[in-house]
Amino acid sequence: MIRIFDTTLRDGEQSPGATLNLTEKIEIARQLDVLGVDVIEAGFPITSQGDFDAVYRISRELERPIVAGLSRCVPRDIDRAGEALQGANRPRIHVFCATSKIHREHKLRKAFDEIVKLARESVSRARQFVDDVEFSPEDGSRTELDYLVEITAAAIEAGATTINIPDTVGYAVPEQYGHIFAYVREKLPQIDRDGIYLSSHCHNDLGLAVANSIAAVQNGARQVECTINGIGERAGNASLEEIVMTLRTRADFYQPYDTGVVSREIFKTSRMVSNLTGLSVQRNKAIIGENAFAHEAGIHQDGIMKKRETYEIMDPREIGVPESKLVLGKHSGRHALAKRVSDLGYTVDDATLQQVYDRFKALADKKKDVYDEDVEAIVDQLLDQDRQLWELVKFNVTAGTNETAVALVELRDSTGQTGKQAAYGDGPIDACYTAIQLITGVQVLLEDYQTRAVTGGKDAQGEVSVHISHGGHKVRGRGLSTDVIEAAVLAYLSAINRIKTDDMKTVQATTMDSDDGADSLSGQVVQP
Ligand code: KIV
Ligand code: ZN
Repeated sequence: MIRIFDTTLRDGEQSPGATLNLTEKIEIARQLDVLGVDVIEAGFPITSQGDFDAVYRISRELERPIVAGLSRCVPRDIDRAGEALQGANRPRIHVFCATSKIHREHKLRKAFDEIVKLARESVSRARQFVDDVEFSPEDGSRTELDYLVEITAAAIEAGATTINIPDTVGYAVPEQYGHIFAYVREKLPQIDRDGIYLSSHCHNDLGLAVANSIAAVQNGARQVECTINGIGERAGNASLEEIVMTLRTRADFYQPYDTGVVSREIFKTSRMVSNLTGLSVQRNKAIIGENAFAHEAGIHQDGIMKKRETYEIMDPREIGVPESKLVLGKHSGRHALAKRVSDLGYTVDDATLQQVYDRFKALADKKKDVYDEDVEAIVDQLLDQDRQLWELVKFNVTAGTNETAVALVELRDSTGQTGKQAAYGDGPIDACYTAIQLITGVQVLLEDYQTRAVTGGKDAQGEVSVHISHGGHKVRGRGLSTDVIEAAVLAYLSAINRIKTDDMKTVQATTMDSDDGADSLSGQVVQP
C-alpha cells in the first residue's frame, strides 16, 4: 500500500489567495480523515499562532491518521512543532533543509557538510519529541545524487523514519525523478531492510507533478505527498485525486500499488476545499473538473448510451460525483436537499439546513431548475452570514457613458445602527466600494475581482468573488445575486466582515525562501 500524505492544509494553503481559518482547517481535516488519507500535514507551527493551533487541535482530535507539523532545521522551529504536537494521537515532525547547490550557495550560504550536520542535529532534536520523524532535503531533485545519498544516510542514522525527496521547483521529469529513488535505494540497503519510507513531493510547474509522483512510486517511494485539487505554491502540488485514481483505474498496470483512499469521498472533499479556500477548480481538471464526465460530441454520447465504458474510463460514482447536476425543482423535498448539501462537501446543522431549504424554495419559485452551483451559493451565503458584522440594507447607483458613477450605500451593523454614504467612482462598482470603505472605516486593497454566471440561462445567478488585503491580512469574499452589482457589493462586504471576524491567520506562511534562521521568516512570528 502507498501512503497518502496530504499537505492541503500546509503546502496547499500556501497557494496565493488561499486563506483558511482554524474552523475551516478542522473541517477539512475531518473530511480528510473520512477520505482515508494516511498522513495530514496540518501546518507549520512556527509561522503563526493559527498554524500552531491547527496542528495542536487536529493532532489531538483525529485518532487514525498521522498528523504532521512542518519545521525548518532550526531549534526553535522544532521545539514549537514538538509543542504543537504534545498530546497528539499519532504525531510526526517533518523537518526540512535545502541541499541543492544553488540553495547551498545562494540561499543558505553553507557548505554541504554543515548542512548534513544541521540535518543530523535537527532530526535528533525532533526525535526527542516524537518517534515519527520525516526529513526532506529541500530541492532534492536538483541535488547531486551522491550528496542526496549522504544526507539521507545521515538523517536515517539520526532517527528519521521517512525520507521525502521533494521536487521543490517542479523541475524534474519522470524518468529522472524515478531514477533518484532507485539510486538512493540501491546505495542505501538499510532503507528497504529497516522499513524506512521513501516519499515523493512534486510541484506542478511543468505539469508533471502527478507523472513524477507515479515514477517515484514505480521506483520505490511508498509515500506520496499531494493536495486536494492539486492546490499549492505556484502551479500547485501533485493532485491527490489524480494519483489515487491513476493507481486505481490502471491497477492492471500499477498493481500492487494502491492506496487506502475512499474514492467515493473525493468529489465531496474537492468541493469542500474549493469552497473553503475560494480556489475554484478549472472546468477541465482531471477527475473532479466540471467537464471531467461531460460528453459533448454526438458520437461520444451515442457510445456512452450503448455502453458507458466506450468513452468513460472511470465511473463517476466511484469518485462520488452526484448522479445528476440538475438537482432539484420546487417540488423536491428537504431530505433530497440535505443529501445534496452533504455531497457538495458542507456540514451544516439542522437550523442552517432549514434556512438553506427556505432559500432554495424561494429560488426554485423564481428559477425552474436549481443546480449544484445554486445550492452551493445559497449555503456559502448563509455560512458567511454568521460573520456578518455589516449587512447591506440597500444601495443605489447611477452610471453611464461619459458620466462619473455615483453610489449611495446603506449598511447596518451588528448593533442595528445604520450608516449611509455616497461616493463617486470609476464605474458603479468602484463607487459602491468606496462608499462601503467610508461607512465601515476599513481601508483595503482590492487584489482580485472575478465574476461569472453560476449556471447557464437568462435567469442565472451572477457570482462575484474578490480577494482583498488589509494590513498584510488577505481574505476573500463571495457574493451572489441575479443583479451583478449587488453580487459585487455582497462579495466586498463579506470579505470586509471576514477581516473583522477571522480568528486566525495573522501571517501568510511564506517560508520557502528562508530556511536558515527563524528571524528571516517573512512576516511576523506570533509567539504563544
Ligand atoms: O516543496 C518543498 O520542498 C516542500 C518541503 C517543505 C517538503 O514543500
Ligand atoms: Zn512543496
